[in-house]
Amino acid sequence: MADWRNPPRLFIPGPVKVNSDVLQQLARPTLGHRGKEYAQLHAETTDMLKKILFTRQNVFLFTSSGSGGWEASIRNCVAPDEVVLCTCCGAFSEKWADVAKSCGRNVELLKAEWGQPTLPEMIDEKLATGKFAAITLIHNETSTGLMNPVDQISRMMKEKYPDVLVFVDSVSGMVGLPLKFDELGWDIVVASVQKAFAIPPGLAVVAVSNRALEKSKSVPGRGYYFDFQEFAKKAEQNQTPTTPSIPHIMALHYQCTKILKEGMENVWKRHREMGDFVRGWAKEKFELFCEEKYASNTLTTIKNTRGINVAEVIKAVQQKHNTLFGNGYGKLKELTFRIAHMGDITLDEVEELIGWIDEEIK
Ligand SMILES: Cc1ncc(COP(=O)(O)O)c(C=O)c1O
Repeated sequence: MADWRNPPRLFIPGPVKVNSDVLQQLARPTLGHRGKEYAQLHAETTDMLKKILFTRQNVFLFTSSGSGGWEASIRNCVAPDEVVLCTCCGAFSEKWADVAKSCGRNVELLKAEWGQPTLPEMIDEKLATGKFAAITLIHNETSTGLMNPVDQISRMMKEKYPDVLVFVDSVSGMVGLPLKFDELGWDIVVASVQKAFAIPPGLAVVAVSNRALEKSKSVPGRGYYFDFQEFAKKAEQNQTPTTPSIPHIMALHYQCTKILKEGMENVWKRHREMGDFVRGWAKEKFELFCEEKYASNTLTTIKNTRGINVAEVIKAVQQKHNTLFGNGYGKLKELTFRIAHMGDITLDEVEELIGWIDEEIK
């Protein structure tokens, strides 16, 4: 029987497994959020995040999951009379478009089939109309395991549409995939800590360009909880506008220290190696859901070409090994399954899991 006190080790694409040394950070004595100790924690954490994201601009910490970052991007940086182009290639990029609509903004969709990338030429064709103030783009679509070609898209945006703001969801990409915020010319990038930061859910990391911050000054109806202007004002004192989840920020400080010590190139390489391993197995036993050049290095979505009963295999692995991997997302349930290889998950652990899946499908 399920028991939350003895949960399975998580290889679902978020939340992912959290190591016990990280969990211990959440049990530290708490701090007053207007005191000097918190300001030190805040400053050190955001400084490290700036190094991790290769940015000299702004990094805000939201006490929310990643979806708060979606809402913030729209409410702060798209005026009610402007139009935002929401590029969609799976469940999460589609949800961001829904969020933009629910914020009352004018939204136009640019849809690719699930599993297909959003290509620069598709965006170019839309933006050529001149009617868009901003685009939303997903770095790593967790529902399909697809990495969009964000380097090419960003280059095209800088060359042809330097005035259009670029908002990026890297919820399941940040840390695991190369991301140099200033060089890419992005205006906002959003991540949740329960993915490649390998921390329990409850905090979002949001980088904001100076020009996006400037733009937000003129946007009415920014709301209260995610107002960039309030975050910027409080950042000057190394604080947040409201009481943040300090335990999460302690855990984030711990993880950022470890990540920087390892070095970003090494962190990205480690994720690529896990991706290569799972892709190798998937191609031998099944098929990749996405074309290989777009297949993600933080999770793999595998096409169920053998017609296995995915739910049964997941259940068997959980019962025997107290370990959980993911079924396909939404309409891809049973047609695909997903294995996360991000954060503090190791190649050895992934190999062990694959061995257990092999046992069930042979
Ligand atoms: C790519 C992507 N974007 C956004 C979200 C929503 O993030 P959260 O659940 O942290 O609000 C998720 C959640 O899995 C995701 O995978």
